[in-house]
Amino acid sequence: MRGRRWHELKGAGRGITQGNSGEQGRVLTATITNAHYDIEAIQAGDPLRADALLARLPELNGRADRPALAALARDLSTRALALTADGLPSPTTGLAVMRDLGMVLGSIKRHGTEPLTVVPELTPLLHALGQQTDLVPRDTVQHYTSWNPPGERRRTYTDDEQERWLQDAVRDVFPALSASLSISDALMELDPADARFAPTADRLEGMVRPMLEAIDSVTSRVSPVFFAQTMRPYFEEIDVDGVDYLGPAAAQVPLWLVDLCLWACDRNGPEYNAFLEESLIYALPDWRAFWARHVSGTSLVTRLEQRIGAGTEGKQESLARSAESLALLLRTLKTFRGRHIGIAKKAYADQVRLYDYGSGGAPIALLKRVLDLTRENETIMHAATRRGRP
Ligand code: HEM
Repeated sequence: MRGRRWHELKGAGRGITQGNSGEQGRVLTATITNAHYDIEAIQAGDPLRADALLARLPELNGRADRPALAALARDLSTRALALTADGLPSPTTGLAVMRDLGMVLGSIKRHGTEPLTVVPELTPLLHALGQQTDLVPRDTVQHYTSWNPPGERRRTYTDDEQERWLQDAVRDVFPALSASLSISDALMELDPADARFAPTADRLEGMVRPMLEAIDSVTSRVSPVFFAQTMRPYFEEIDVDGVDYLGPAAAQVPLWLVDLCLWACDRNGPEYNAFLEESLIYALPDWRAFWARHVSGTSLVTRLEQRIGAGTEGKQESLARSAESLALLLRTLKTFRGRHIGIAKKAYADQVRLYDYGSGGAPIALLKRVLDLTRENETIMHAATRRGRP
């Protein structure tokens, strides 16, 4: 990409690209996919020489210093435009630029100003950076957590350690959830009576387990009032060229990568389905490709149910074992969702909340609905286990 002027990128404009075609497109897609997972390179990047400037962000936010925040935005904008004047840097550097710009845009919005009215000259660059890595033209939850440097260089909105606990919890679940999609792909290729099905499903369950540690950590270390009244306003949507883009939301943690093949592709309800469809633009390109591959498929729960319903002659034990493994996986999802809804209800209680909707754009009622659907599918798999093992 280097050397090519970013405003000449084909199709630079709103939204996200639909992917690339042809040999060159395949090479580009592979480069982009690797860039998203080259976490250490993104974290190490300080392309705007912003380490010291962003270290002051908690102080500026703490005293709601709007003029200083606007001056910081202009300074970083000038640096970003100078850096990219002759072409976009590498994708990993582009992700670091977006991360650092995003912290300041979110801060300005938190104090009541639409950020691109302060730095309108940034708009084309946000589009180009988004397009370069096939993401939305603003920062996402990955920028705020996984791609955020550790230690002293970490970017935060506040100087409260609760914000760091929140970031850590979200950051820690991305590797396993991202890796889960190849396990789901493998499961979709297997007959539920295949002896490899249950151990593969057990591996998937292992990839969901970090969600329990994450929610337990947040529940014990982050107060719902702190989340609701201090953090939530930083995750507000911003207007980029007439389109509102949501801020970095924990709701965009891709737990749905596990739901989709397990049950959601053919047993979902309209509310969770609509939420997923609306959240898709914030997902990494390979997660969106996974969605496209499986959204019209037959889920693992349905396959197991049908297979056991058709008679288990000679296959009872392996089918029962497969159903049991899926029930265990659904139980882990249910446990996460049960604990998560507890803290979410407290943060969105009438006396506490500043907003009716979560930063992912949905109300608490959605969480109850997804929990119910997870429970229903777990019950179906328990029944299938019993039928397979009369
Ligand atoms: C104080 C902490 C938290 C609160 C108040 C909270 C609140 C919410 C709310 C209101 C939603 C509905 C969608 C939306 O955001 O618009 C949601 C969804 C979601 N949140 Fe959280 N959340 C918190 C922490 C976390 C953490 C730490 C994780 C993961 C590590 C997480 C993962 C999710 C997921 C995956 C969803 C999508 C629905 C689902 O799969 O059940 N949340 N959250």
